[in-house]
Amino acid sequence: MASPNALLKVQDLSASVEDAQILHNVNLEIDRGQCAVLMGPNGAGKSTLGHVIMGDGAYTVDGGSITFDGEDVTELSADKRSLAGIFLSYQAPVEIPGIPLYSFLRTICQKRPELKMSARAFRQRVRELAKELDMDPSYLTRELNVGFSGGEKKKVEMLQLLLLEPKLAILDETDSGLDVDALGIVSRGIETYRRECGGALLIITHNTRILERVAVDKVAVMVDGSIVEHGGPSLIETIDEQGFEAYETGGEA
Ligand SMILES: Nc1ncnc2c1ncn2[C@@H]1O[C@H](COP(=O)(O)OP(=O)(O)O)[C@@H](O)[C@H]1O
Ligand SMILES: [Mg+2]
Repeated sequence: MASPNALLKVQDLSASVEDAQILHNVNLEIDRGQCAVLMGPNGAGKSTLGHVIMGDGAYTVDGGSITFDGEDVTELSADKRSLAGIFLSYQAPVEIPGIPLYSFLRTICQKRPELKMSARAFRQRVRELAKELDMDPSYLTRELNVGFSGGEKKKVEMLQLLLLEPKLAILDETDSGLDVDALGIVSRGIETYRRECGGALLIITHNTRILERVAVDKVAVMVDGSIVEHGGPSLIETIDEQGFEAYETGGEA
């Protein structure tokens, strides 16, 4: 049933990439401020769903719809969806030689009327967030993600998240390749985002380490491009113990 609080509503969504259908009739609803987790084995289509919600042009929607904040965004460009308040952190963040992190952050904020601020206020805000994330300020003047460790790249993503204050943050495997300290920083970033922005989350993961520190409202399990189970946070524990075997019908990649 549709909740009046629904922020994101994915209905019967089917999508393909390069003529291969990946997503099959996916339904997913996330309320304002809610934390939803999408789990599933490698190759299930989790990242695909994240990219399709964000409006990545590499994917084709073959059926169904995506409604965000009361508006049908199925046909909107990624740019417009970003302005509407959807944020996607990439599983593998891109390196952009020649663009210092600081200039990159300034540029993305200047595109948003609600985030317009003076250069001085911006500098202060970025420094404050870098400190909160335990990021060495010298990273701000380095080229975006070039030579950054996995942990530093994730801090950059958290910094973007906290600066942009989206209504929905889709975090794709934010926990992969992180050591315990970096994991703590990401979890703190997520907590700050929820506390300060009241934002909703879709955390995509195939391992459950990061979820130990985050309050989860609902869980969906994806296998072979379909959501095979919707449940509460206790589902995480079940999957931790049993893996995804119970859902798989064979043809494991
Ligand atoms: N851009 C793409 N081009 C070709 N195939 C893709 C692309 N993105 C995803 N796929 C395919 O879609 C399937 C699901 O991938 P993905 O969404 O990355 O799964 P997950 O994130 O659950 O591991 C895989 O078989 C993958 O090879
Ligand atoms: Mg993935």
